[in-house]
Amino acid sequence: MRIANGQKTAPVLMLAVAKLTRGNDKPNHHALYDLGLGVQNLVVQATALDLFVHQMAGFSPERARELFQIPDDHEPVTMIALGYLGDPDQLSDQRRELELAPRTRKPLREFVHGGVWGEPAELVK
Ligand SMILES: Cc1cc2nc3c(=O)[nH]c(=O)nc-3n(C[C@H](O)[C@H](O)[C@H](O)COP(=O)(O)O)c2cc1C
Repeated sequence: MRIANGQKTAPVLMLAVAKLTRGNDKPNHHALYDLGLGVQNLVVQATALDLFVHQMAGFSPERARELFQIPDDHEPVTMIALGYLGDPDQLSDQRRELELAPRTRKPLREFVHGGVWGEPAELVK
């Protein structure tokens, strides 16, 4: 999904950052998982409000850390553009093609396993 005129003009641009420690600086082994859950809730809420979200890993975490003076025990993980659905005619030909292309998603049997790893679960066979 492309937000109005691509992400560069999205009304809101966020950086999702994970805190790698918890309590008295103990490692938080679920930091990235926690962040993912938080962002997913944001995506669900945004969708319920007819807003659109585009997540991006294509940014420089080092530059973000420098620019925003992010402490060492935090990790910049994903950029997130939030906005309204834009007009595909404002996109480049290549991006418009991507935007208007039918979506295909990975079949459930490829990642819903039952019993042993790699074996599709009965319910998705
Ligand atoms: C963690 C994460 C990072 C992503 N990074 C990029 C990215 O750098 N560039 C990009 O075009 N799409 C990226 N995507 C994919 C898009 O955000 C989006 O999920 C995908 O294009 C599917 O969009 P659709 O629902 O319109 O098909 C990323 C998705 C996730 C979850």
